[in-house]
Amino acid sequence: MEQLIEEIKALKAQRNALILAHNYVRPELQDLADFTGDSLELSIKARDAKAPLMVFCGVRFMAETAKLLSPDSTVLLPNPDADCPMARMADGEQVKAWRSEFPDAVFAAYVNTTAETKAQVDICCTSGNAEKVVRSLEGQKIVFLPDRNLGGNINNILGTEMSLWNGCCPVHDQVTPEMLKGAREFFPDAAIIIHPECKAECVAEADAALSTAGMLKFVKECDKKTIVVATESGLLHRLKKENPEKRFIPLAPEILCPDMKKITLEDLRDALKFNQHEITLAPEIMEKAVKPIEKMLAL
Ligand code: 13P
Ligand code: SF4
Repeated sequence: MEQLIEEIKALKAQRNALILAHNYVRPELQDLADFTGDSLELSIKARDAKAPLMVFCGVRFMAETAKLLSPDSTVLLPNPDADCPMARMADGEQVKAWRSEFPDAVFAAYVNTTAETKAQVDICCTSGNAEKVVRSLEGQKIVFLPDRNLGGNINNILGTEMSLWNGCCPVHDQVTPEMLKGAREFFPDAAIIIHPECKAECVAEADAALSTAGMLKFVKECDKKTIVVATESGLLHRLKKENPEKRFIPLAPEILCPDMKKITLEDLRDALKFNQHEITLAPEIMEKAVKPIEKMLAL
């Protein structure tokens, strides 16, 4: 592994590449990246860095978002199969058809969508800014897609009545209130943090529902020594690394996203070596799909 890491570092320097990684990917990739973060932080980084070559360790919609925000950059996704199943739950044509049912509504999409779907909506959000985005749409009829859990959680917080698409993250949707009740009983002194892609009845059992960057911030500021973590297990790497004095308990071993683990060190080496797999999007899709992301970032 050491040799492979050295090879990647040499190729990265030779190609002057920027490596971006999501908080859920394999630990060795997080350690090699120039920047590791949540979906919102990564979008901002991709927009501001304007690096000629970006290698995205995450899933396809994230690499597409980087391409949309930095169209002149070459963006590589080291494993073309790393995709988010939730992003496949609302395709562009379906959303277009749904729009005709709600002609007066504002369509808000979680960033976990394909570029084709983004091209059909008015504004995007991430789990880190969903509340802010929805608040900015006050007084309007809103349709939210594709995550019924995130949308439902925002409805509960803000008292909004957004219509929800029936999609979800299959990883976070497995979390049950019983798991959280069990953790509370076992670890009565712990703080319990949860991702808002989990069901509302689960969020109700936790102390805070946050994006992955929000969780990292919460843990730094919280005085509890033990934290139960109800999100994808990849986040534990940074949580432990940045807070060695605290104890982290994953809520359940099955909260693991197979797609977030698809990119390996070998894939990253080959991406840099053979310039693969480049994200390409049709110009007419790019032109439309960047608008809802820019609207989100302008807030
Ligand atoms: P955040 O890191 O933005 O919280 O996203 C979670 C997620 O599921 C990304 O796929
Ligand atoms: Fe998609 Fe869920 Fe995996 Fe994130 S954790 S990539 S939302 S399936």
